[in-house]
Amino acid sequence: MIVSLGSDTQSAPCFAGRPVANVVKISIPERFCTQMTRMKIDQRALDVTVEKMLSPKDFFTEYWAKRPVLVTGAGSDCIGQYDIDDFLNDLIATQAPPYLLISVRDGRRVYASPMTREEVRSEVEAGGVAPMRISRIWHEDRLSSNWIWMRALFGSLCRAVSMIYLGPPRSENVDLFLAGPKSHLGVHYDTSHTFTLQLFGERKWLVEDTVRLENKLAIERDPNFSPNLDLKLVGPTREFTLRPGDALYVPAYCVHGVSGMSWSVSLGLGLRAFNEIDLLARLLETFEHAKYAEYPPIESLPESLGEPHVEAKAELLRRVRALLKQLEMAAAASVLVPLRLPDTLAPLKPERRKVQKRLRAPAN
Ligand SMILES: [Fe+2]
Repeated sequence: MIVSLGSDTQSAPCFAGRPVANVVKISIPERFCTQMTRMKIDQRALDVTVEKMLSPKDFFTEYWAKRPVLVTGAGSDCIGQYDIDDFLNDLIATQAPPYLLISVRDGRRVYASPMTREEVRSEVEAGGVAPMRISRIWHEDRLSSNWIWMRALFGSLCRAVSMIYLGPPRSENVDLFLAGPKSHLGVHYDTSHTFTLQLFGERKWLVEDTVRLENKLAIERDPNFSPNLDLKLVGPTREFTLRPGDALYVPAYCVHGVSGMSWSVSLGLGLRAFNEIDLLARLLETFEHAKYAEYPPIESLPESLGEPHVEAKAELLRRVRALLKQLEMAAAASVLVPLRLPDTLAPLKPERRKVQKRLRAPAN
């Protein structure tokens, strides 16, 4: 009997080390050999990665929110930590079908909805990109063990570059991308400052050399604006080829197009750009969640009642003003305190070494 551990055999790594009866030959693909010897990444390696990502001279004055920069090998400690099969395994384990698949046809983004792992693979092979928004679920219990270091890396990055944290949906845009050699995501910009760490394979980036913010905001104000339409690259561009371990910083609103060179997996660590609306929306959301029952319903009276209707509206405005004052105080408090992140973004704890029990020699 021949036991072959193919890429679809999810339990295969657990197989190692267990005695198996009736097995004549076991063929273990190279991938599993790497997985079995995969070193656990520790907080020190993550800190070094962040340090290198921010190592370009005068990063905050020259590049932050202004222009892209590539740091070759910034994430060299992350090479070999995550590959195509990890992506597909995690996709199936953590998401419900249909899965999201993005490609570009005639200058417009098109979306497909593959239902199985095999369909995802063939859509990616045909030129699609499979994104997985891991920051949407990584604060929950169903965290893939593969993502623990990625979450800690994002936490370290937040502590190094963020001024304020507005909760996961308003501060975190972290995606894993599975792409094939024919892939293209279309020319677009994101509203996050994104540090892309190439984990596996290669991808080519074409990026405008600087952020043209006013131009982009004007595009968004146009009522015919659609984020699914390809943008045109304006002005000088730069081309970067990302190989495993490379990190590319692309600021929010910086236009770029990404195309595949081989099968690849990349991690986009996106920190959402924000404005005063985001801050107030976050505070209002917190109020609604924690204090809603402290605010009794407004007396709602129709216009036909005359004076009582006018008085009810005046009371509504008084209460709105009182709430705005409270929101202003809460805004001041949340802006003035030092950066506070959720416990889930804390640094990795050092692993406790197993202390081997010493066996006592039996007394004679
Ligand atoms: Fe993008």
